[in-house]
Amino acid sequence: MAKGNILVGITGGIAAYKTLSLIRLLVKAGYEVKVVATQHALEFVTPLTIETLSNHPLYSDLFTKTEEPHTKHISLHQWADAAIIAPATANCIAKLAAGIADDLLSTTLLAFRKPLFMAPSMNENMYLHFSTQKNLAFIQAQGVHIIEPEEGFLACRTQGKGRMAEPERLFETIDSFLYPKVATHSLTALVTAGPTYEAVDAVRFIGNRSSGKMGFCIAEALAEKGVEVQLVSGATNLTCSHPHINVTPVESAEEMFRACSERVEDADIVVMSAAVADYRPAHPAANKIKKSQETLRLELEPTTDILKTLAARKKPGQLFVGFALETDNEEANAMHKLESKNADMIVLNSLQDEGAGFQVSTNKVTIFFRERPPMALPLLSKKETAEHIVNEIMNNLKKKA
Ligand code: CTP
Repeated sequence: MAKGNILVGITGGIAAYKTLSLIRLLVKAGYEVKVVATQHALEFVTPLTIETLSNHPLYSDLFTKTEEPHTKHISLHQWADAAIIAPATANCIAKLAAGIADDLLSTTLLAFRKPLFMAPSMNENMYLHFSTQKNLAFIQAQGVHIIEPEEGFLACRTQGKGRMAEPERLFETIDSFLYPKVATHSLTALVTAGPTYEAVDAVRFIGNRSSGKMGFCIAEALAEKGVEVQLVSGATNLTCSHPHINVTPVESAEEMFRACSERVEDADIVVMSAAVADYRPAHPAANKIKKSQETLRLELEPTTDILKTLAARKKPGQLFVGFALETDNEEANAMHKLESKNADMIVLNSLQDEGAGFQVSTNKVTIFFRERPPMALPLLSKKETAEHIVNEIMNNLKKKA
């Protein structure tokens, strides 16, 4: 069975010859590989070799007439599950950072929203140049995975950093990202989703607009990797029939806290994506409150912070992911939540971003880590966002293990 579709981009550097071995390794491991090469790349490697190794036609010219549709860059971006640019020249890195699309590869990259890996390869001075370093830092912060070049003997006959990572390392990086080496089938996750309803009286409640979609998508993305998921969900219209997901419906923050407390011990991964009420009516009425002309004052008391309480008792090996919904000082607040809630990752939703937040099927998030710069994902469907988050969870688990 095919493991997935990988798009390999080759730009004009001497290390292009090593990319041929990468194609071979990917094909041998069961990936379908399509290659986009720049005109300069084809000075170093031939179309015939690429086509023979990948078993697909080479894509190199934006306007070549083939049997495929003209919007090749769009179809390639839809086809691929991940892409790697190897070698990535300083020019190609700069073009991606600046959003320049002047050939098939750079155009494809602008349309690309899946995991993207880049293996820089260049002379050490070019690599260390402030411009290249700035571009690399920028694209890395946008979620591009940079596979650092190695030190050694360079093609320009000098010693230094800039040699493209060996094909085996490139292959391992992509393969272990898409198929984490942690035994996902032995993992258990606790996920919260949806809103909480806090009773005012027998028929009324204080709630919020959370649809639960993000949490359900995360539960499904985890289950797809074989993880056993306990999904504790507030009131939603969503259903889930995945055999690896067990849904426990709850209403209030207190019920959610109790359900989570009972399940957290066994969880390797805890993802708290529920929109939990911070306050609840202190004295909910047992019966329906009758209308009167008097002003009605509700006294509210704080609920238990589920994430903070459970993460404070974190066991070694457990990984806690929280969500943050912010309207201002987003980055500082997200970093603060990472610390104050003892979480390992915080997924920041900004309500300032169009297409992000409640009741929509898309999301735009930035993931904050403890020991890595934050990663900003583009506007994606909630399903795609969840897949990215779950991949990052798996990567973080590996580091913790
Ligand atoms: N959370 C929780 N229990 C609560 C409140 C929040 O477990 N009683 C979790 C959420 O599921 C989310 C994270 O904490 O993962 C952040 O929630 P958020 O509402 O953004 O932050 P608060 O801590 O409530 O702070 P504030 O409302 O002041 O931003």
